[in-house]
Amino acid sequence: MRIGILGSGLMGGKLGTLLARGGHDVVFSYSRSEGKLERLARESRGRASAGSPADAARNADAALLAVHWSRVDDVLRQVGTLSGKVVITCSLPMSKDDSRLVIANTSSGAEALAGKIPHAHVVSAFGTVPSEVLFSVFAGRRRANRPSLIYCGDHARAKRVAARLIRDLGFDPLDAGPLRMARYTEPFTMLVAQLAYERPGGPGLAYQFERRPAR
Ligand SMILES: NC(=O)c1ccc[n+]([C@@H]2O[C@H](COP(=O)([O-])OP(=O)(O)OC[C@H]3O[C@@H](n4cnc5c(N)ncnc54)[C@H](OP(=O)(O)O)[C@@H]3O)[C@@H](O)[C@H]2O)c1
Repeated sequence: MRIGILGSGLMGGKLGTLLARGGHDVVFSYSRSEGKLERLARESRGRASAGSPADAARNADAALLAVHWSRVDDVLRQVGTLSGKVVITCSLPMSKDDSRLVIANTSSGAEALAGKIPHAHVVSAFGTVPSEVLFSVFAGRRRANRPSLIYCGDHARAKRVAARLIRDLGFDPLDAGPLRMARYTEPFTMLVAQLAYERPGGPGLAYQFERRPAR
């Protein structure tokens, strides 16, 4: 598939790199450093390039949104249109100082995003995994007991695309249902982050938290 990365930081940079290594065609975009986008494309050792958000979205089978909540409107403005596109978001609706969710309980960041791009098909995925574990999960992708990864969305084809990418990255996709389930997965992400960054064991602890027991 052709994947447009909108936000090439800790999450977007790693997910794009691994998707390129997994055989997908990746365009990295949205960084303050053009050189960083080019380095990501080079070091991913696959079919990858650097471009603008509009380049990343053009002809993309899926766009992966991985920016801070405060940057969402800016990246969407730079993309232009996402009409008919699959948009997979891991962007959490965090306050500027990252202390709290600014949307919760009665809605979610994923639903608010879908409201901003009504003609796109939004899937919420990858928010529940700390970026630090992505490379090791990918390295173990041929193992029988893969970690589960929750996703949700309202559009069947978009969910199939997301599930394929989740599988290619080494996880077992776990369909949580419609996009409104992000009201529950986004606070769950806060728990995963607390476990990952505030407890001994670091990000690996969150990885175990999601791992399926061996059968
Ligand atoms: N990190 C995690 O483990 C994790 C886990 C789950 C969910 N999330 C969510 O995923 C989203 C992305 O997180 P992240 O950790 O990947 O963030 P990040 O490392 O800060 O990456 C954000 C990207 O946006 C770019 N950016 C920021 N301001 C910009 C500007 N003014 N112009 C152009 N580009 C700009 C950054 O550019 P630069 O390259 O110049 O920095 C970077 O490429 C967030 O919503 C976060 O809540 C993160």
